[in-house]
Amino acid sequence: MARTQKSPRKEVRRPVWADVSLSALTHNLQAIRKYVNPPEEKRKTPRKILSIVKGNGYGHGGPEVAKALEKAGSDWFGVTCTEEGIAVRNAGVRNPVLILTSFVPGEESRLVEHDLTAVIHRCEQLALLDRAAARQRKKRVPFHLKIDTGMNRLGIATSDVECFARQLAKCKHLQLTGVFSHFASSEVFTNTAVGQQTCEQEERFYAALERLHALGIDPGIVHLANSAAIVTRPETWADMVRPGAILYGYHPGYDPMEKREEAEKRLVVKPVMSLRSRIISLRSVPAGAGVGYNATFVPKRPSRIGVLAAGYGDGIHRSLGNRGSVLLRGKLAPIVGIVSMDVTMIDVTDVVGAEIGDVATIYGTDGAHSHMASLVARSVGTVTSDLLCAVSQRVPRVYLR
Ligand SMILES: Cc1ncc(COP(=O)(O)O)c(C=O)c1O
Repeated sequence: MARTQKSPRKEVRRPVWADVSLSALTHNLQAIRKYVNPPEEKRKTPRKILSIVKGNGYGHGGPEVAKALEKAGSDWFGVTCTEEGIAVRNAGVRNPVLILTSFVPGEESRLVEHDLTAVIHRCEQLALLDRAAARQRKKRVPFHLKIDTGMNRLGIATSDVECFARQLAKCKHLQLTGVFSHFASSEVFTNTAVGQQTCEQEERFYAALERLHALGIDPGIVHLANSAAIVTRPETWADMVRPGAILYGYHPGYDPMEKREEAEKRLVVKPVMSLRSRIISLRSVPAGAGVGYNATFVPKRPSRIGVLAAGYGDGIHRSLGNRGSVLLRGKLAPIVGIVSMDVTMIDVTDVVGAEIGDVATIYGTDGAHSHMASLVARSVGTVTSDLLCAVSQRVPRVYLR
């Protein structure tokens, strides 16, 4: 009998991909929830978790991780903009989604239409949001107020609380359901001005909250804590916490560094993403011959040089050239020469048995071995989130249970 339908065939494609462990992600969420709800506190309502899934879920795939996190019990989600919010909604996420960088004039209708929770960080935004809610005949559109407590980035000034209250009184279609601020330096514990900043921010925040209360305004859900504050500053937990980095398995870079070990013991999280590629070419290079653009690597001994099918166009930081390494057959193989857009060279001379087709882990875990993105990030003077977010669109994410 003639076959009318072709059986689906797995496409063979360029060998670069990111494994995303949903079990590690779920573990991290549950560990955070447990950590911020210590039984001795005997809270009537457990502290909520707002999972930060902006920046395409720190590179892991925003809609996919939001869906998995909702299933695992995340109460809220935080994205940067309307587009990210709509993508999360389209994935079927039903819980509230906070639009952290808010809207620019003209964007507010779409936000209301898709049931996304706006952030008000300038008082003038209230009237715009109120008009959008009225146009869509919505009675009480919820929003959160962001207060700038010293980061000098986004948020109304603490001195604008009264002005905010006056403007809010004119908005018949809005309801304040949350008030928050963001810490500039919660990972810093040095005896410096920056080391004091978090406490000062907290003080300013709670003073502003008191003024809101005095003006008869219910702030709704109060939230402040990002990853470093969640792990190290329980006094900042309030009603809800907003984990980003720790959700994806990485602690922030504490200062001083000795704080890291203690923090990592307090809250154990597992890296979620492993970025991988295969060796697509392997050659013997004599001592003295230049490798890659501008011959920046010249081996001193006869060497075996492998080529990985991934470059800075995929998210391998270009500054790892001649500095970083990848995990191959349980060993670290140095990255040699300049990282190109599409390929990266590695020196496999000391990796016994290395051959074309071998899988290299650029960062993440490989069986019992690991090559942490946090260490890779530190080696090139950046933060883990920068590396994770840099994994580009052309890298398929493989979601593992
Ligand atoms: C408002 C807000 N809250 C929370 C976070 C999460 O931060 P972290 O990744 O340090 O947990 C971010 C990320 O930058 C943020 O902008």
